Amino acid sequence: MRMELLITALKSFVFINSASSLISLLDRLSNSNILIFSISLDRMAFSISFATFFFAFLALLAVVVAQLSPNYYSSLCPTALSIIKGAVSNAISQERRMGASLLRLHFHDCFVNGCDGSILLDDTTGFTGEKTAFPNANSVRGFDVIDTIKTQLESKCPGIVSCADILAVAAHDSVVALGGTTWSVQLGRRDSTTASLSAANSELPSPFSDLSDLISAFSNKGFTAKEMVALSGSHTIGRARCTTFRTRIYNETNIDAAFASSLRKNCPSAGGDDNLASLDTVMGDVFDNDYFKNLVSQKGLLHSDQQLFNNGSMDSQVNAYSLNSATFFADFAKAMVMMGNLSPLTGSSGEVRTNCRNINGS
Ligand SMILES: *[C@@H]1O[C@H](CO)[C@@H](O)[C@H](O)[C@H]1NC(C)=O
Ligand SMILES: *[C@@H]1O[C@H](CO)[C@@H](O)[C@H](O)[C@H]1NC(C)=O
Repeated sequence: MRMELLITALKSFVFINSASSLISLLDRLSNSNILIFSISLDRMAFSISFATFFFAFLALLAVVVAQLSPNYYSSLCPTALSIIKGAVSNAISQERRMGASLLRLHFHDCFVNGCDGSILLDDTTGFTGEKTAFPNANSVRGFDVIDTIKTQLESKCPGIVSCADILAVAAHDSVVALGGTTWSVQLGRRDSTTASLSAANSELPSPFSDLSDLISAFSNKGFTAKEMVALSGSHTIGRARCTTFRTRIYNETNIDAAFASSLRKNCPSAGGDDNLASLDTVMGDVFDNDYFKNLVSQKGLLHSDQQLFNNGSMDSQVNAYSLNSATFFADFAKAMVMMGNLSPLTGSSGEVRTNCRNINGS
């Protein structure tokens, strides 16, 4: 019985630390081994065993709860965050679009088997990564910026800062640099030694997705429909290629006519696939809530954008964000923390890559 009390106490401790994976681990333990063990506990031996198990649990907690933390690098590499911030700000001052590209890299990393830097791995003769997956090919960018950051970090703190964490911090710093909101970036992820082209092809949402597809793609990663809408607000920055919005501007009817005709000038019905348009045509390089204002006036660039406001279940949420950028920012920040928590590698899983493009020793 005392053992059960202990487990209950540990669960509340864990709950405070919001490590839900550990809660389920403890549930499994408390329902099996430990319960059997506690039944077999003889009261005479209880105090000794109690102590042993208490410390074993504390050790377990220390390992699992310590997984991600905003202060992970504060003693391991105190300059890590300022190095990343400086490089991101430098890259954005050379090309404002880069902020959106870096945010998208983090998203496309996290959605495919977790935030593990897998998207950064180059294809080699014996290895196929994610860069050629349909949602990534000809559109993911920013690898040079990540390389620059990694080189600076390796010279300051060799082998310490993971590529997955660089992506998480760079995404945050980009949003802040373009006028958006801040959040506390959890750190301590490690890098994968694998990648998955097929998961990248199947798990990332597409610009042609309908609302139900978007809801289910995000739900598969643990997001509510409302969180999906908040994260879609990322399209307040960035560009899309003609090939991703051609059908919408030529054939769809839930689009503002003047908006469609102005986009057709730079996106012909055939050819010009790589010609770009801003996802937010109002202030395309500023992180604000214009994306939602655009949707309300049928000026979503992608089919998937306008799906969020198309007489469907998310209309009221889009409307709310279009009227109140503070609630959008608050919900976006929370959802970004969730995104960054998708299946990180911690402890001795994975590795800290020396070069973000290659698995160590390959
Ligand atoms: C528009 O729809 C027509 C008829 O379905 C189709 O032939 C054409 O290819 C479409 N155009 C674009 C740009 O998608
Ligand atoms: C929603 O429905 C109304 C009336 O049926 C229609 O006038 C309007 O264009 C629709 N809006 C969208 C975004 O489809």
